[in-house]
Amino acid sequence: MRDEVGRWVRAAAPASVSNVCCGFDLLGFAVAGWQDVVEARSSPRPGVRLLEVTGDGGRLPRTVDENTAGVAVLKLLELIGRDGGEAPGVELRLRKGLPLASGLGSSGASAVAALVATNEALGIGADPERLLTAAMEGERVACGTAHPDNVAPSLHGGLLLVRPGETPALTELPVPAGLTCVLLHPPSAVATEAARAVLPVEVPLSTLTAQAGNLAALVTGLFRGDDRLISGALVDLVAEPVRASMTPGFEAVRSAALAAGALGAGLSGSGPTVFAWTREPDWAARIGEAMRDALERDTGLQGDLLISPVGAPGARVVAHGEPS
Ligand code: HSE
Repeated sequence: MRDEVGRWVRAAAPASVSNVCCGFDLLGFAVAGWQDVVEARSSPRPGVRLLEVTGDGGRLPRTVDENTAGVAVLKLLELIGRDGGEAPGVELRLRKGLPLASGLGSSGASAVAALVATNEALGIGADPERLLTAAMEGERVACGTAHPDNVAPSLHGGLLLVRPGETPALTELPVPAGLTCVLLHPPSAVATEAARAVLPVEVPLSTLTAQAGNLAALVTGLFRGDDRLISGALVDLVAEPVRASMTPGFEAVRSAALAAGALGAGLSGSGPTVFAWTREPDWAARIGEAMRDALERDTGLQGDLLISPVGAPGARVVAHGEPS
């Protein structure tokens, strides 16, 4: 057993957009530019300790078994059979970069960054399936459901179809050249748990058929690089209708994105961030300005904009040694 703490390993995990309109709990992609960072080091004391959380305004739980980063690492240690109190343990520092309850996969990014940092710091060598299973446990504590459509793209990167199962089956979807995402994050919050509580328990057969048709059309459009198919498919008939009122200015922002030439737009995850897609990277700034102006006109609120390729790289170790 080592009797000293190890060197800090720092990992970053990106924000993600889940659902993508017609793929509720099934589609998600990573975005570049907004991320969470976790530092991990091995400790001669068994167990998981969360030493510090910064960037959250004091809003996140500090206890390991309530914080998504801590929960995910506890699950990883359980999966590799190291939950019996053996050393080394792990110490974590969470640096929140993502806004909370934003629809940007914030809880998932913390869990994923913690797992990637711990995997490296302890030399665990866990395979991606185990990391995904552990990250989903973080989602369970965050919102009551272990949905995989944020943690999978945050971990792996890309644009993913995530089919449910004990270990979800991931399929990386092609991203047509130039496909760009515009995100507008308003200064408000939507708790995923609350946004899931308003979902219908049953949907009419006609809605199921239309939503399945859109999902099939979107996937086909991505494979073919067919903008018309993609554009017509970016509609959510299940979650968005009951969640739209939780996001200030949603209809105005979505309409403004479409009027400015976006292929489609919708809630990012459960909101309140709104995403739009365009095949023309040069149009992204204009679409973003239109969305921001619409939000301000409709609500008086000022949102933050991000422009990113669709399907950015996933989580990675970014530094070894003492953090600055
Ligand atoms: N698919 C999840 C939902 C994502 O819409 O509830 C939550 O961010």
